[in-house]
Amino acid sequence: SAGYFTYDPGFLATASCESAITFIDGDKGVLQHRGYPIDSLAKQADYLEVCYILLNGDAPTKAQYEDFTNTITNHTMVHEKLVHFFHGFLPDAHPMAMLCGVVGALSSFYHSDLDIHAPDQRMRSAHRLIAKMPTIAAMAYKYSIGQPFVYPRNDLTYAENFLHMLFSVPAEEYVVSPTVARAMDRIFTLHADHEQNASTSTVRLAGSSGANPYACIAAGVASLWGPAHGGANEACLTMLEEIGSLDRVDEFVAKAKDKADPFRLMGFGHRVYKNFDPRATVMRETCHEVLTELGIQDPLLDVAMALEKVALEDPYFIEKKLYPNVDFYSGIILKAIGIPTNMFTVIFAMSRTVGWIAHWDEMLGQAGQKIGRPRQKYTGEIDRKFIPLSER
Ligand code: SDX
Repeated sequence: SAGYFTYDPGFLATASCESAITFIDGDKGVLQHRGYPIDSLAKQADYLEVCYILLNGDAPTKAQYEDFTNTITNHTMVHEKLVHFFHGFLPDAHPMAMLCGVVGALSSFYHSDLDIHAPDQRMRSAHRLIAKMPTIAAMAYKYSIGQPFVYPRNDLTYAENFLHMLFSVPAEEYVVSPTVARAMDRIFTLHADHEQNASTSTVRLAGSSGANPYACIAAGVASLWGPAHGGANEACLTMLEEIGSLDRVDEFVAKAKDKADPFRLMGFGHRVYKNFDPRATVMRETCHEVLTELGIQDPLLDVAMALEKVALEDPYFIEKKLYPNVDFYSGIILKAIGIPTNMFTVIFAMSRTVGWIAHWDEMLGQAGQKIGRPRQKYTGEIDRKFIPLSER
C-alpha cells in the first residue's frame, strides 16, 4: 500500500517487477520519484539533482550534489573516435537513428572490463551515460544541419551545456538565456522517469540477460522512438501544424473520434493516467512562461489551447478519460527555443536515460534477479501432421 491505494492481489500477480524508483497513481494523476512529488522536483530541483535522487534514493546534501555534478561534468566528452560513427550516416538521417546507433557503439568503448554485478561499476556506467547523452544528441543535430560538432564546456550547467553544443558555432558562442536554460532543465526533469513504460521495460528486459548498459540504453532509444510513445512530441507538433488554424480544430477532433479512422490526437491519452498527466500541468505552465518571457506569439499555442479546451469538454474524450499528456506542450516549448521537431524525441531519450539506467541498476541489484521471459497465450495450431514438399 502506498497510501493512495493498496495493490490488489490480481495486480501483484501480473506485476512484471518490483521497484522503489517511481510511483504513479493514474486515476489520481499522481507521479512521485522516490516519494518526492513531480511538481516539487520540477519547480524546486534541477535535473542533475533529480538524477541523483533517482539513482541514489534520497535528495543529496550540498556536498553530494556538488560531487555528483562535477562527476557528470567531467564525463561529458566522448571518445574522439566516436565522431567517425556519424560520418557513416546519410545527411538526412533522422537524429534518432544516429542516437540509436551511436549509443549502442559506446559498448565498444567502455564495456569491455565492466562487471555489471559490481554496484560501483554500474554507477560509473550510469554517470557516463547521463553525461554523454547530451553530447551525442547535440552531435546528431549538428551532423543533420551540416555544422561542426561543438565540444562540451565545464563551466556551464547541464542544460546550458546542451544548448551551447546545439547552437554555438566556431564563429560565435551561443548566449544561453536563463529562461531558456530553466525551461530546458525542466523538460529534462519532466521526462526523467515514468515507472514501467514501454522503453523502460525494454531496457530492463535487455538488461536482465546481462547485456551491457550501453546496448540496453540503445534498446530503450529504439523503443521510445515510436509515435505511440516518445515519438508523440514530434507527432504532436506535426499535428498542430497540420491543423494550422483554430477553425480546423473541430475537424481533427471529429477525425480522432471516428473509429473507422486510425487517427489519434497526438499528445492525448495515456496507458496509465486516466486523469491529467501531472507533468502536462507543469509543462503547460512552463510553456506559457517561456512564450511570455521570450515575447513569442505562437499561433500553434492558440491551436493547442483550443484543442485542449474542446477535448476536455467533449463527451467522447471525457468518457474515454483522454487528457493531454507530457508530450502535448513540450513540443511548443522546444519549438520556441529553436529546436527542430526531429530533435524532440532525441531530447526525450536523453532526459529518460537516467530513468532507464536507474531501473537497470535497481534490477541488477535485486537478489535472485533472473532473465526476463514474458509469457504468451498460444493461439496457433497444434500437433499437425507434416507432409514433405515432394508430396505437397
Ligand atoms: C508517453 O507509458 C508511459 O508512461 C509513456 C510516457 C512516459 O513518460 O514514458 O508517459 C510517455 O508515451 C505518453 C503517451 C504519448 N503518446 C501519444 O500522445 C500518442 C497518442 N496517444 C494514444 O496513442 C494513446 O492514448 C496511448 C498509446 C498513449 C495509449 O493507448 P491505449 O492504451 O490504447 O489508450 P486507451 O486504452 O486508454 O484508449 C482508450 C480508448 C480507445 O478507444 P476504444 O478502443 O476504447 O474505442 O481511447 C482511444 C482508444 O482508441 N484513444 C484515443 C486516443 N488515445 C486513446 N482516441 C483519440 N486520440 C487519442 N490520443
